[in-house]
Amino acid sequence: MRRSQAIRVRAHAKINISLRVLGRRPDGYHDLWTVFQSIALHDTIFVAPHDGPMEVTATDPAVPTGDANIVWRAAHAVWRASKRRGRPQGVHVHIVKRIPAGGGLGGGSSDAVATMRALDAWWRLGLDRPALGKIACGLGADVPYFLHGGTGLGLARGDLIVPLPDLAPEWLVLVMPPFTVSTAAAFQWFDSRRPARPAAARIALSVPGAAGLINDLEPVVASRHPDIARITRVLLRSGATAAAMTGSGSTVFGLFRTRAAAQRAADRLAGRGSAALVSRFVGRSAFLRASRPARVRSLPRSGRIG
Ligand code: C5P
Repeated sequence: MRRSQAIRVRAHAKINISLRVLGRRPDGYHDLWTVFQSIALHDTIFVAPHDGPMEVTATDPAVPTGDANIVWRAAHAVWRASKRRGRPQGVHVHIVKRIPAGGGLGGGSSDAVATMRALDAWWRLGLDRPALGKIACGLGADVPYFLHGGTGLGLARGDLIVPLPDLAPEWLVLVMPPFTVSTAAAFQWFDSRRPARPAAARIALSVPGAAGLINDLEPVVASRHPDIARITRVLLRSGATAAAMTGSGSTVFGLFRTRAAAQRAADRLAGRGSAALVSRFVGRSAFLRASRPARVRSLPRSGRIG
């Protein structure tokens, strides 16, 4: 591979088909039983040569470019794993952002894994699955899922992944209200809710289908943000076979049998400050194909620097 070329990796978003909170852990996190599903909506990560210390840029000016950005932290972790000293050098990481931040769609976490894969290829490190897994676990609880994609059961902090057979493909509408929800706050709201329910006793240990969507964080988030419950109702009235909040919100999704039905619902729900878009489940093999670093001639125009 010539060094003048760039590398491109896709970073697909996820939804949580179900998210059950089993209880608090001594480390302050919560034990979860959650089913992740990757979807077609994606960011794209590019890496290209650059003189001097690593540069991180993004198409969305709201995305931080320093250590507040998980991509930046992922790049540093890969650099350290390569046993190099100091700060990452000689590379420009550019994020083409489409997944809204703070929406429960895992955009930052997926970008982090795509960056790990891109830099592993760029620096020719050959990091194996356990090494990538270790870095992913250190970056955030829902980061390791993005090493797998498809349908996956998340246990422990959500970071212990059991790949499941892909759910049948579904169309979905994502509705993004004009506010974000902090994940830490959503879990705190859950802890302070009354009455406390012994969640573990109610978990059905069956392989999930899309029919029984339950998100334990949804009632506590919806009680602070009534828009969540309103959007869920409108999705169901618009023909969704099921609808729920993803992760800690604020995005709400509805499942639809056809693309046309999904598009009609999206048209109905866009507005009032909410954005709505149609997407589709992506199975594990398509996800992993898209995660493979691909050589491209250069960064997209928007990513040029200097
Ligand atoms: O790991 P991540 O930084 O994405 O998590 C953000 C916050 O969400 C954590 O600091 C924690 O407060 C909460 N969290 C939790 N239990 C989990 C995942 C996240 O309490 N399983």
